[in-house]
Amino acid sequence: MLKKLKQFFNKTIYKNSLNINFVKLSRSSWLCKNLSGGYFKPFASPEAKQIKRIIKETGKKGRLRLYEGYKNYKIEGMNYENATRNVFEVSTEEKVGDFFYWLVLNKRPSIIVEIGTAFGVSGMYLLSGLKKIKKGQLFTFEVNKEWANIAIKNLESIGSQFSLTIGKFEENFDNIFLPKDNIDIAFIDGVHVGEVVHKQIAILRQNMHDESLIILDDINFSSEMKSYWKGLAIDSKVKASVEIGGRIGIIELRQSKDDLSKKK
Ligand SMILES: C[S@@+](CC[C@H](N)C(=O)[O-])C[C@H]1O[C@@H](n2cnc3c(N)ncnc32)[C@H](O)[C@@H]1O
Repeated sequence: MLKKLKQFFNKTIYKNSLNINFVKLSRSSWLCKNLSGGYFKPFASPEAKQIKRIIKETGKKGRLRLYEGYKNYKIEGMNYENATRNVFEVSTEEKVGDFFYWLVLNKRPSIIVEIGTAFGVSGMYLLSGLKKIKKGQLFTFEVNKEWANIAIKNLESIGSQFSLTIGKFEENFDNIFLPKDNIDIAFIDGVHVGEVVHKQIAILRQNMHDESLIILDDINFSSEMKSYWKGLAIDSKVKASVEIGGRIGIIELRQSKDDLSKKK
């Protein structure tokens, strides 16, 4: 009976909701001031229907070759030899996209950085938020040229407040940002390996301030990624951390630019 009731709630009331679970709380943090634990249903972006249509259209291209750099990482249960993926397999799901839209509306960022544009789905939600607040720029990085060219067209149909760099984030960061540029939100959605994410956070931190947010996708991707996230979420340099929908992790950093503790 209890199981059936749970299934009913999951299918109806909670269908488009995200479970918000704080790991580290700090009353002075932006995260704690703006989110609370429990179920949260973000409102849809005005471009939601258009984004859905674009995803459907992109899906017609079928499975395309994945960035071959993935082969360099040993990830349990994954074989990246000649791997291909389609837009549905790699993109942010709708309710998370709506959450990103909500986040932009409430955080009002000047600079958003995204590592891993893929076909531009998460970028379209972020961009629709920037369009609504009429300020800010999305700087997104995609190493796969074929996917990047599709993403550019997709993003252009939503708005113009973006710049897509074709290439590795790590190799292009210094050419794009000046020390004075403040990154308000970063979305890390490239290779879901703790060691890689750790280095990307170190780069981003150079241009982050108190209240900057770093979003990590796929915190439960592998046992390695899970344990990296667990350590990061309680790190002393992290003011507050939260898990969204059991898949996304967000950390809010303290102002100090010291490196985060070594990987746990
Ligand atoms: C999971 S997909 C991103 C999905 C996208 N954020 C979305 O939700 O629509 C990961 C993408 O990251 C790209 N990627 C991986 N490592 C990268 C890096 N270091 N710099 C830039 N792009 C990277 C891959 O080519 C792939 O397209």
